Amino acid sequence: MDMKILVVGGGGREHAIAAALSRNSETAIYSVMAKKNPGITRIAKECCIARETDLEKVSAFAKKTGVTHAVIGPESPLEAGIVDRLEKEGIACIGPTKAAARIETDKAFCRNLMTHHQISGNPEYRVFHDADEAVRFVKDHDGDLAIKPIGLTGGKGVRIMGEQVDTAGAIEYIREIKGDVVLEERLKGEEFTLQAFVDGTHIVPMPLVQDHKRAFDGDTGPNTGGMGAYSMPDHLLPFVTRKDLTAALSIMISVVAAMAKEGSPYKGILYGQFMNTAQGPKVIEFNARFGDPEAMNVLTLLASDFAGIVSSITDGTLSASKVAFEPAATVCKYLVPEGYPTAPQVNKPVSLGDMGRAILYYANVDETAGELKTLTSRTLAFVGKAPTLAGAEAIAEHAASGVKGSVRHRRDIGTQALLDRRIAHMKEL
Ligand code: AMP
Ligand code: GLY
Repeated sequence: MDMKILVVGGGGREHAIAAALSRNSETAIYSVMAKKNPGITRIAKECCIARETDLEKVSAFAKKTGVTHAVIGPESPLEAGIVDRLEKEGIACIGPTKAAARIETDKAFCRNLMTHHQISGNPEYRVFHDADEAVRFVKDHDGDLAIKPIGLTGGKGVRIMGEQVDTAGAIEYIREIKGDVVLEERLKGEEFTLQAFVDGTHIVPMPLVQDHKRAFDGDTGPNTGGMGAYSMPDHLLPFVTRKDLTAALSIMISVVAAMAKEGSPYKGILYGQFMNTAQGPKVIEFNARFGDPEAMNVLTLLASDFAGIVSSITDGTLSASKVAFEPAATVCKYLVPEGYPTAPQVNKPVSLGDMGRAILYYANVDETAGELKTLTSRTLAFVGKAPTLAGAEAIAEHAASGVKGSVRHRRDIGTQALLDRRIAHMKEL
């Protein structure tokens, strides 16, 4: 089956998408990205350097190259309506329309959809259009709240009271947001990611993954886009039972059904971020795309033809029989510039060491005349894949610690010590 597929986006996630698609030798990959990703450049037949939200440029390139399908990596082009635009040109997309992407781009829409359709897993929440009212609510409910701007924030917009801010800090933050705010009950438990392929009606889950948002070892420091993630050979997590997985998947199935009922059928990748609480999984948020880094874990494990999955999603013929993942563990570790995320050291040389069996995914990194240099965001990632978590961790850690330059990574991701802490935490609840 000859396919010409456009990959939109230039991060580690999109390098993993392009690499997975290119395992089918009959598939030609094209790319639109804001900054040249050295990994994608090597895979793609042709690249167009443009902002992913520049719909004119993306659509002109798609028409010029004659792509039949497009896979949209990041959320910002989805919010800009890239799928509506490309579908108008007859290009079938992996990604929801602008209206359906509201599941991620409008946090109030997501919470209200779940309420209206009586879908379980919502925390207590309230949407505020007025900062004074939100401030009053915080003063009256001194304590455990999550404060969220309503729109996209690159994963860095949430503040948790009692963890990142006190009452005074919460009030100051609400004033800073200058827009609608969602205040939510602070959920306590362990987080996990469940990603699924969705064709509008059918939904097929991928292995569970746990991401690490905090910048430093031991889950300290500011929130980042994600420092790395791991997955287990049984595709569960040690603190998520099969029953919890069934509950989380059933919430996602209900959300997909609700979107169809609302007249905005959901197609693409649905990413559920859950908190496994004493009462079972609760929804932290949904994303309308693969996670970054989580895409690197699951796509490294994908044993089926990704291009075939792409066409079954766009045809509406997706089924579990078309999707298989290797029963192996993965550990993904991101190298980030020193100072990331607050004051990243830009334009610093980076050199790779012995990578062993690790898989390298490039992200926000400049490559000129064979030399790599840091930019402002996450630089590159290594994925280890092995029959055991310890094996996968050793592979990723060996490659990551061999990198020289002003970059750092989290050493604890995928280690047994970190897992033991997660399991103990879950037992305490
Ligand atoms: P988000 O940008 O929604 O992914 O949130 C970033 C991080 O904030 C999540 O990974 C959670 O750790 C935390 N978070 C978000 N909402 C809640 C909540 N209701 N309760 C506890 N933690 C939350
Ligand atoms: N890893 C979290 C995200 O992609 O939003």
